[in-house]
Amino acid sequence: MKALQDKIREEGIVLSDTVLKVDSFLNHQVDAQLMWEIGQCFAAAYEGEGITKVLTLESSGIAPAVMTALALQVPLVFARKQKSLTLRDDLYVEEVYSFTKQVKSEVAISRKFLSSGERVLIIDDFLAYGEAAFGMARIIETAGASVAGIGIVIEKSFQNGADRLKEAGYRVDSLARISVLSPDGIQFVEE
Ligand code: G4P
Ligand code: NA
Ligand code: NA
Repeated sequence: MKALQDKIREEGIVLSDTVLKVDSFLNHQVDAQLMWEIGQCFAAAYEGEGITKVLTLESSGIAPAVMTALALQVPLVFARKQKSLTLRDDLYVEEVYSFTKQVKSEVAISRKFLSSGERVLIIDDFLAYGEAAFGMARIIETAGASVAGIGIVIEKSFQNGADRLKEAGYRVDSLARISVLSPDGIQFVEE
């Protein structure tokens, strides 16, 4: 997506060879117009797939996911992160390990908001190693619903999340795919 690549080039700050800061439009301040274009792009990619729900993980996935849900005219559910909770039978809970932040957290969704037979589109802001997406997919499958695909705003293609998810059989659609992050610049995967 050209507008997204331009925005990343103009406003992205390379913090290291693995971390990109995009807090001016995605992770802190939010460019709502760009999020709407992103939502329409995911909606167009999944038109005809019978999507009944969009699922993301709080907090930074919510902006692109809510726009996708609006464009598809379906509800958005965001999984909540919690520090180890007592098991509750009204929740689906999965453990997700973040290599980037080196923390384990539990992500939870109320059973009320995910039913068997649903076709779910997962949306997230970043894809690194794929752990968050795998966690959401496990919850969807535990509920007897199916994963239609995974829509990612910024994929770091030099980390292995996209490869792992595709090997596991999931469809992955990333709007920006970064091949190199360096202080000299940001390179995108040639399409
Ligand atoms: P993974 O799910 O693909 O394995 O990724 P990982 O656990 O490594 O990511 C952990 C957190 O770090 C996620 O945010 C993710 O969006 C974020 N993240 C990963 N790489 C980058 C990066 O290069 N730049 C930025 N800005 N964020 C990155 P989170 O902990 O879920 O927090 P939130 O922002 O959603 O609140
Ligand atoms: Na994030
Ligand atoms: Na995220």
